[in-house]
Amino acid sequence: MTDRILIVDFGSQVTQLIARRVREAGVYCEIHPFQKVTVDSVREFGAKGVILSGGPSSVTEKDSPRAPQDLFAMGLPILGICYGQQTMVTQLGGRVEGSDHREFGRAYVEATGTCALFAGVWAKGAKEQVWMSHGDRVTALPEGFVVVGVSEGAPYAAIADEARKFYAVQFHPEVVHTPHGAQLLANFVHGVCGCKGDWTMAAFRSQAVDAIRRQVGKGRVICGLSGGVDSSVAAALLHEAVGDQLTCVFVDHGLLRMGEREQVEEVFGRRFNVKLVTRDASELFLGKLEGETDPEKKRKTIGATFIDVFEEEARKVGGADFLAQGTLYPDVIESVSFTGGPSVTIKSHHNVGGLPERMNMKLVEPLRELFKDEVRALGRELGLPEEMVGRHPFPGPGLAIRIPGQPITRDKLEILKKADAIYLEEIRNAGLYDAIWQAFCVLLPVRTVGVMGDGRSYDYACALRAVTSTDGMTADFYPYDMAFLARVSNRIINEVKGINRVTYDVTSKPPGTIEWE
Ligand code: XMP
Repeated sequence: MTDRILIVDFGSQVTQLIARRVREAGVYCEIHPFQKVTVDSVREFGAKGVILSGGPSSVTEKDSPRAPQDLFAMGLPILGICYGQQTMVTQLGGRVEGSDHREFGRAYVEATGTCALFAGVWAKGAKEQVWMSHGDRVTALPEGFVVVGVSEGAPYAAIADEARKFYAVQFHPEVVHTPHGAQLLANFVHGVCGCKGDWTMAAFRSQAVDAIRRQVGKGRVICGLSGGVDSSVAAALLHEAVGDQLTCVFVDHGLLRMGEREQVEEVFGRRFNVKLVTRDASELFLGKLEGETDPEKKRKTIGATFIDVFEEEARKVGGADFLAQGTLYPDVIESVSFTGGPSVTIKSHHNVGGLPERMNMKLVEPLRELFKDEVRALGRELGLPEEMVGRHPFPGPGLAIRIPGQPITRDKLEILKKADAIYLEEIRNAGLYDAIWQAFCVLLPVRTVGVMGDGRSYDYACALRAVTSTDGMTADFYPYDMAFLARVSNRIINEVKGINRVTYDVTSKPPGTIEWE
């Protein structure tokens, strides 16, 4: 088994980043909510070390979360981060107090001692930038600990009990604003816990292939391909594992970008030789969407129609035992919720939930242990083309939600596809594709007057959108230079009949969303 680290989650916003950094160090890890962690579960998981995350609680409050007390008697190395430090100190007999001096954001830690965490990264006496976010602070150490780092607001910014391999920091090493944080975490998992660092996508590939074969046996698998990264990588992996027991179904709803269907057919049908069923359902979808302008109705119609069509195709394939899904680790992590309140639906996303039960199929989710960047790395490992593994996200309802406030017609889809293809081509030519999270055109429901040559034009306006983001939850518009925007605008207006005006959307999220509908 690959060496593994367990991360106990106390509800920090950035717990996932701890897992990302540990995996970047080549070590497999999982995040488990503190309520579920017991000595037995840690043993069963096979952890070589434990990291206690930060969290929003205060150890000075009654009933605030704790790690299981006997975790500290297992002989495993433990690293506490922020709240993790505070609960560790409290549970081991030290003291934590609320403080008037809150520290948020950038701070500087002076390494006043040495320890295995700092090895080769922070020398004694160095002053290093870190990222802090705390009100409470440690005021007395448990027995066996010494101070190895101090900051202005945290006299116990880094502490260590090297005999027991217990380490704790007040700052957040997992965020990029702690420039050496990733190396400190790597020191913990390699140097302190002794993990080998053999979690690579090549290793995962062969383990996953074995696991899929064990799960699927001689059964038959159906996989919905969308052309997106997750379903493509899942399909390629499944194909490697079970070959012709896999059938992929690609539903063309007529709302795809230029060349997308052809790319899927080329890569999966011809290059990988996967059994691929393509269903052109564009008539059906456009018929159902006829005259519809309400964003939620459009989304719901597309979602429901997609499930109907997919189910129909799955039945035609006949007797499939498994439905494959490209579920990723962030969808699987059980989050620690302190508010528990219902959240508002901003947009109805579409998925094939409910289908496996209705069709009496079991689920196979070969990517459920991976983060997005690992899925991309696995895709490269499997030999998928770069345009596919590096592709920007594309929403399930496709171009329908990029023709806002107006009925969707084939003509408008054609105009939008052409403009979008030019825009993306220019982004690639300028070498900007990978710096942008997502970029697309929106066909606006207004026609404007223009002058082209000696004539008057009266055509649609289109908006360009491009954002940077790390997870799609928040986003900033991309700061293009004007020459780039001018070039794209020129090309679209000259080459796309039907558009005579181009604008750039400079809205961040929040308050805007990435898509317009
Ligand atoms: P918004 O517009 O909510 O989008 O800021 C956030 C991210 O989600 C994508 N998106 C979807 N993806 N099905 C999907 O698979 C959907 O129905 C859907 N709606 C939005 C959007 O493109 C962006 O990346």
